Amino acid sequence: MIDLSAFWERIQTETGGGSPVSIPQSAVPQEFGFPTLSFEPPVAPLREHSDRLVQGQTYPDVTARQYPDLHAFVENIQHNRSAEPSSLFGFPADPLSAIFKKVASNQGPFSSPAGLNVSRIRNDFPILHQSVHGKPLVWFDNAATTQKPRQVIEAISAFYERDNSNIHRGAHALAARATDAYEGAREKVQRYLNAGNASEIVFVRGTTEGINLVANTYGKQYIQAGDEIILSELEHHANIVPWQMMAKERGAILRVIPINDQGDVLLDNYAKLLGPRTKIVAITHASNGLGTILPIKTMIDMAHRVGAHVLVDGAQSVAHIPVDVQALDCDFFVFSGHKIFAPTGIGALFIKKSLQDILPPWQGGGSMIKDVTFESTTYSDPPAKFEAGTPNIADAVGLGAALDYVRSIGLPAIATYEKQLLDYATEGLLHINGLTIIGTAAEKVGVTSFILKHKTVPEVGRYLDQHGIAVRAGHHCAQPSLRHFGLEATVRPSYSFYNTFEEIDSMLVALKNL
Ligand code: ALA
Repeated sequence: MIDLSAFWERIQTETGGGSPVSIPQSAVPQEFGFPTLSFEPPVAPLREHSDRLVQGQTYPDVTARQYPDLHAFVENIQHNRSAEPSSLFGFPADPLSAIFKKVASNQGPFSSPAGLNVSRIRNDFPILHQSVHGKPLVWFDNAATTQKPRQVIEAISAFYERDNSNIHRGAHALAARATDAYEGAREKVQRYLNAGNASEIVFVRGTTEGINLVANTYGKQYIQAGDEIILSELEHHANIVPWQMMAKERGAILRVIPINDQGDVLLDNYAKLLGPRTKIVAITHASNGLGTILPIKTMIDMAHRVGAHVLVDGAQSVAHIPVDVQALDCDFFVFSGHKIFAPTGIGALFIKKSLQDILPPWQGGGSMIKDVTFESTTYSDPPAKFEAGTPNIADAVGLGAALDYVRSIGLPAIATYEKQLLDYATEGLLHINGLTIIGTAAEKVGVTSFILKHKTVPEVGRYLDQHGIAVRAGHHCAQPSLRHFGLEATVRPSYSFYNTFEEIDSMLVALKNL
């Protein structure tokens, strides 16, 4: 329960009151080029309640769950004040004033120049409204996993509260409802990826399982001794190890597209690797460690010209870049739900129709059969052929809700805003003494891997954690891409559309003080 009046009093004290609220001039240093940071009236709930707020009164019906923005708002103001960027940064005024002007030009503390209402978006994510080690949580570990909006959490709860049943089996109402919900989620994935047919979508546990499925089925069907599989130096271990295992089993050969020192794949070298022995090209859409976005349309077309198939690992792109599997003409596209605001343990694999019918099943069991005798089995049509056993029904429903959520905001606006966050973070990080950004390709998703002179990667990770800032510090399950730079680990902040410029400021301030 919140004593709303106490919040109100704190806000009045912090801001001098009034609506729209203005941060007192002293909170914002002059040399950043703007005298007053004018915030929108606080948060909608506060606006709604402001006419009936009486100081000193407790509102028992108002809970933190209902109004997490009140915490965020107050903490943000305090955070802005305590950060005092002018004295802490100690940078020359000019380059930084350009950066901070960007913040000043925003409509409010959490709204973006890309037109997203980031304040409202943040309100959908309960987990973001907490303190860690006494500091507001800053979630910059989005490439590892994303947080879940209330809409996803509620869709899963509603499923378990009303519809839970096994699917495709029972003759009862709940089985029908659960089946509809599961198949409805498949259609949502189809629409999200613009696949031609929902049957081209196979639910899997995540990207790793999807790639293992392809390596095992495609490998069995198509790959012979001496055949070649092309990967890039940027791949996640999930897109290396399954191919390595399969290549060993079949006597096939892995070929690797090298990258340059910016982290871009070298297309000329790729062209030279392609040939009549190339059976499949398995490439990431975006690198998890460096952020590079690969020119996958070009790469797919090049592979098809030599008759090879292409798998695209979309784990790091699907939440950030619009994907159209028909326009790309890829043969496989796979992603994990948890990278796109859905639960862990669910993901989706697109398999082009023409291949689905040819590929053998992977795992055997219930659901994937038409008829079983002790002598032989006939298999279901795809996608059931690839989904043995009871699937993760509730989390598929959660994935559908997550895709609805992203669509309701709009990927083009998300991509634009995240690019602004990326540029802002990159510019700020370049001003930190001794900091080197690893991965400087022109086209990147919101990832800024870096190392700091005289500090180990784990030290920096722990230090940022003490400031409430969650980043990944390690090899990111992509050791070959880091070893290109002679590194075993980097610090990796990664951004999503619920992050703010202010959060980036707090990371910059913390790093400056390290
Ligand atoms: N693939 C995840 C990452 O990049 C775990 O952190």
